Amino acid sequence: MATTSSTKAPAGSLATNARSTRSTIALKLLMAISGFVFIGYVLLHMYGNLKAFSGHDAFNEYAHHLRTFGEPMLPHEGLLWIVRVVLVLSLVAHVYAAVALWRRAQLARPIKYVKKKHTGAIPASRLMRWGGVTILLFLVWHLLNFTVGKVNVDGGPTNDPYNLVVDSFATWWLTLIYLVAMAMLGAHIHHGFWSACQTLGLTGTQRSRTLAKRVAFTLAVLIAGGFSLVPIFVLAGVIEK
Ligand code: HEM
Repeated sequence: MATTSSTKAPAGSLATNARSTRSTIALKLLMAISGFVFIGYVLLHMYGNLKAFSGHDAFNEYAHHLRTFGEPMLPHEGLLWIVRVVLVLSLVAHVYAAVALWRRAQLARPIKYVKKKHTGAIPASRLMRWGGVTILLFLVWHLLNFTVGKVNVDGGPTNDPYNLVVDSFATWWLTLIYLVAMAMLGAHIHHGFWSACQTLGLTGTQRSRTLAKRVAFTLAVLIAGGFSLVPIFVLAGVIEK
């Protein structure tokens, strides 16, 4: 929507606008780079989870190996802690940039646009914002479930990673929560990857745009679908204790 104004721009506003544009680009870069870190992590994590199809011992051996990887060059759990620090820094950067960009968009538009005729489609910005909040809430529960608190909703023991996973997903409502969260994650990655490619200037030609859209779709399906396999196959009784 074009707007015109007869009032002269105050002195220095051009410099202020240029600075504001630069910092908006910096915030978008921060979102894109931290987003790529998450995509790398979830791809590896999803692949690791599929070990559940190889049975109890293979899965637990893999969980144990995550803690001993790189020893004795690294201390016990050394790699795990490096990954944790990178993830926490990326999370802080991603959430900070998201909130800052959202506030900027609000301030730049003090008067809301006249509402368009409702088409039924959810705007991407709203989907990303609420999707992000949902994924964050899921992550808090997920860490309580499997890492920090180790909650067994089935009431069983929590000291065996494979059994904890099976007990968790044998509970239908927990599997449902995970499947909804994975659908949100897929949608978030689909749009987020495409946005990050735009920020990084990788969508300049029709060919690169088509490629970016295809990669975004493939990543979303691969990650959301791959993560959903273990919960579904546990609930179906194929993966069992
Ligand atoms: C069905 C899907 C998932 C399953 C079955 C699953 C399973 C697990 C398990 C068993 C652990 C504990 C690993 C261990 O301590 O040995 C874990 C940790 C973790 N998961 Fe997941 N996960 C799933 C989805 C996700 C998703 C979508 C994310 C991110 C958005 C995620 C992020 C994490 C993080 C950050 C940790 C903590 C790693 C650590 O520092 O110890 N997980 N997950």
